Amino acid sequence: MTLVARVTARFRSLVGEAPAGVWSAPGRVNIIGEHTDYNDGFALPMAIDRHTVVAVGLRSDGRVRVGSTLSDDVVDVALADCVPGSVSGWAAYPLGVVWALGGADGNATGLDIVIDTDVPIGAGLSSSAAIECAVAVALNDLWQLGKSSMDLARAGQRAENTMVGAPTGLMDQIASMHGRTDSVVFIDCREPSVDVVPFGLVAHNLAVLVMNSRVHHSHATGGYGERREACERAAIALGVPALRDVSVDRLADLRGLVDDATFRRARHVVTENARVEDTVATLRESGPLAIGDLLVQSHLSMRDDFEISVPQIDCAVDTALAHGAIGARLTGGGFGGAAIALAPRDALPGIEKAVRDAYADAHFDSPEMFVVAPSNGAHRLD
Ligand code: GLA
Repeated sequence: MTLVARVTARFRSLVGEAPAGVWSAPGRVNIIGEHTDYNDGFALPMAIDRHTVVAVGLRSDGRVRVGSTLSDDVVDVALADCVPGSVSGWAAYPLGVVWALGGADGNATGLDIVIDTDVPIGAGLSSSAAIECAVAVALNDLWQLGKSSMDLARAGQRAENTMVGAPTGLMDQIASMHGRTDSVVFIDCREPSVDVVPFGLVAHNLAVLVMNSRVHHSHATGGYGERREACERAAIALGVPALRDVSVDRLADLRGLVDDATFRRARHVVTENARVEDTVATLRESGPLAIGDLLVQSHLSMRDDFEISVPQIDCAVDTALAHGAIGARLTGGGFGGAAIALAPRDALPGIEKAVRDAYADAHFDSPEMFVVAPSNGAHRLD
């Protein structure tokens, strides 16, 4: 059964009638530009052909009910109570968007929302942004809000920051809203603005392979927030609004101002911004076969300077590179999640086998691997 058929059937059984519509939003992989978004920097993600779909209908009793095909749980709250601090668990993502788009302000109509997804959860592929963006486009239509894609992306980020409590940037939501087939999304996170750049995978017979380490991560706790704070300390030490304003040449000035770990966190961000710009220029001038080394440099910087990789991810990256990938790196926030490999299509079976064998040899849980294609951003399906 397709996601749409499944979510519609669940909606009917829960609500007793057909939904007003079905909306879809993709997960993402980031090709390069990690932990740069909250530093006002550059990122280059693509939306993927893994989606969250939501079936939504309006209610006249001022309540919001959220269900999913994944469990029998139904969360049922009054619109007025749909505010930060009152909701926890998975429903905080959709209800956070209801709040961020004005659900508790008194003029909104109640909702039934049913969610289904084939984006793996907790794998670093932005399953959360996919939920937020699918709900945001649905509410934009049903509540006739007339908001831009960028406003809807920001509503998703506010939901995540405020309702869920994860201090994340805006990259994931922008990718989920603005993705295009066979393209990457070049984001200037300061504006923020978006430039869709042709990726050329099809023409060059290349594919992006996701290698999910199965090490679960959460950005609401621990390392993500600490990395963000280190970046802010470094920017303050240099007297700039954000690390975006620091060139690679100026890094030397930072050496004596902060401790070694903070220096290395900043060095990752500053050099990563430069790598994103290089990647975009290289893609435009020479195509995707020429960006492999930049992806590898990015991974090494995340591993050694930002220290957000884990042994399972390094193993996937090293093994993919040794078996024909032209580039490979951790993707997403780190501390687990997934790596990607950019590889010729005919090298994929060899890479997958080698990664599986390497995981078995190291006694890691067996990885999940699949190819993803660049896809269109959030939109109405039905
Ligand atoms: C997570 C966050 C993003 C971004 C990445 C790291 O995916 O949600 O905002 O910071 O980590 O690049």
